Amino acid sequence: MSVTILGIESSCDDTSAAIIRDGILLSNRIANQEVHRSFGGVVPELASRAHQQNIIPVVDLAMKDAGVKPEDIDAVAFTRGPGLMGSLLVGASFAKGFSVARNIPLIAVNHLQGHVLALFVERRPETGDRRPEQPSFPFLCLLVSGGHTQILVVRDYLDMEIIGQTIDDAAGEAFDKCGKVIGLDYPAGPAIDRLAKEGDPLKFTFSRPRISDLNYSFSGLKTSFLYFLRDHLKDDPDFISKNLNSLCASLQYTIVEILLNKLKQASKQTGIKEIGLAGGVSANSGLKAALRAEAVKRGWNVYVPELSFTMDNAAMIGITGYYKFLRGEFSGQDVAPVARI
Ligand code: KG4
Ligand code: ZN
Repeated sequence: MSVTILGIESSCDDTSAAIIRDGILLSNRIANQEVHRSFGGVVPELASRAHQQNIIPVVDLAMKDAGVKPEDIDAVAFTRGPGLMGSLLVGASFAKGFSVARNIPLIAVNHLQGHVLALFVERRPETGDRRPEQPSFPFLCLLVSGGHTQILVVRDYLDMEIIGQTIDDAAGEAFDKCGKVIGLDYPAGPAIDRLAKEGDPLKFTFSRPRISDLNYSFSGLKTSFLYFLRDHLKDDPDFISKNLNSLCASLQYTIVEILLNKLKQASKQTGIKEIGLAGGVSANSGLKAALRAEAVKRGWNVYVPELSFTMDNAAMIGITGYYKFLRGEFSGQDVAPVARI
């Protein structure tokens, strides 16, 4: 039997819809919300309104791209959380309405599980894209996004355990908040990545957390970056513009080092050498390069999802929905979104 899933993602500032048939991606539409850029971060109220405007057109386009009609869809999967409550409610309400109207199952998906399962999204063979190499179970997944930084042991598609996570800021937040201080637009991660290529990663040093277990902390780095700049700006008001590239390179180097140190520790502790990367920060070229270098040194197999599946997208929600559908893990109409999980 063929199974067609409509996936919906609306946890933060991107409205996305995707169609997955038998584990293969047929379409993935994302409407980005430009409205937040000038505010230096996501404004929840504006995000909810933009989702409300975008959701129907985005689903419609995803179905058209896939050549699928509403009656061809067997189940609708949506992001239940974590995320912004007002944003989640738009996707959840749409999914419930669609499920009632079509009399098909409703599937609630954990956004973070979705980021991990982005590693398993496959495109149609006829598009000519190579089937991505997929990690075998069990693997370790470093999930790095704007809201989360976690190391998970993934035993199966729907069986994963967090063995380390940030106790304060996420890695993406560290990029974004430090970037804001040096005048970069939100989200600053991609700009830091670009500028870092022209800078010296060892020119400046910033404080690293001292935590013995597998947990992360990035708030100390942010403070250290801020004080460092404050001190130097006293002597030279042009310090930032004169050193922009090396500030970015040194900051990125520090964040990557912090991320990899715990990953190495986790691999040693568990004996697992299959390593997956997930979340928006996995687009970072410094992180990918450092991970590949460690892979050669340590005999790791490293897997990174395609760029469009690392950022918030509905393909990852659709693929998670597909695996939940196969196991009959459906939700009732009383399921409610959750801001934190
Ligand atoms: O996964 P994602 O799209 O959304 C969340 O669920 O948070 O991640 C967004 C985060 C932002 O913090 C952004 O600055 C960061 O990913 N990011 C990057 C890069 N591309 C996106 N950080 C560093 N380097 C990049 N190339
Ligand atoms: Zn995300």
